[in-house]
Amino acid sequence: MDTEEQEQPAEITLTTCPGTTPCTPLSKNQLKKQRKLAEMVEMRKLRRQKEREKRKEKKAQAKALGLPSSVGPSRKELKRRQVTVSSQNAEDSVNVAIDLNYDDLMQERDIAKCVKQCLRIYTINRRSEQPLHLHFTGIKRDGHIHESFKKNDGWENWNVQYHFDRTHTEIFQKQKVTYLTCESDTVLEKPQPGHTYVIGGLVDHNHFKGLCHQRATTDGLSTARLPLSEHVDMKTRSVLSTFHVFELLTRVAAGQDWTEAILETIPQRKGAKAKDSKETKTLKEQPESSEEQEQQGDNVKDQAMPES
Ligand SMILES: C[S@@+](CC[C@H](N)C(=O)[O-])C[C@H]1O[C@@H](n2cnc3c(N)ncnc32)[C@H](O)[C@@H]1O
Repeated sequence: MDTEEQEQPAEITLTTCPGTTPCTPLSKNQLKKQRKLAEMVEMRKLRRQKEREKRKEKKAQAKALGLPSSVGPSRKELKRRQVTVSSQNAEDSVNVAIDLNYDDLMQERDIAKCVKQCLRIYTINRRSEQPLHLHFTGIKRDGHIHESFKKNDGWENWNVQYHFDRTHTEIFQKQKVTYLTCESDTVLEKPQPGHTYVIGGLVDHNHFKGLCHQRATTDGLSTARLPLSEHVDMKTRSVLSTFHVFELLTRVAAGQDWTEAILETIPQRKGAKAKDSKETKTLKEQPESSEEQEQQGDNVKDQAMPES
């Protein structure tokens, strides 16, 4: 062996470098998960891009026809509403708390659906002429719900009060709290300013029937059900999804009567018919969805993030 060859240092690689342990290769499952996640992010980007293009196209079409470019309230108006509700104190407005203290009871996909419903609730409130004081309570810090929120750009800036590791019983005076549950014997009348209405943020495919009611009574809270059967006849059960309950409260708090609010909010599939009317009076044309989908909020439109 000549000396030149002897002096040549051995090539150092990750596996031969002293003090380095070779990294364990990812399992097939982990690789699959990584691939799926990357695909999802890519799909979301494309979707957002398409939405932006569609909006631009619509604006251009409206402009060409000499029509106003948007039908909804302007950003300025939405901001004004937000500022108004933020400056009101809790005594002057109706408060709603979405109870997100069910983190450990939901599967991953239901956590995502639950957070999607929260986004929908935020949008409904933002667009309402009279927004309510909105709280998201009982979020476990770094828990599943929190992690799912983090996937939504700008979620921290939504005009909502987030409460981490604190539930509604620790935030509000018990005497001024009503937990809404369909099992309650009390019927809700008009939501009252200064009072807090709690809605369960639970997507459970009805596995935990009566759980919210049970927790509320254990906590010594008053409960109330929505006056659905008092105003409409329905073909199906009266358990609504969290965001439909919120929309109903918003409408009624803003002065709409229950019958109209119910017919405009709950899906056609439920076959709601006003008590005093012979014909099926459904005011809002909505796409059909199964009861299961409806209750779990599967029909919540996947929408672009609202600007905060
Ligand atoms: C999909 S439901 C949750 C069902 C769950 N199994 C339970 O124990 O209530 C979501 C929430 O909407 C509210 N809710 C649904 N239907 C209601 C009704 N008819 N009256 C009052 N609240 C209702 C409740 O706060 C409930 O926790």
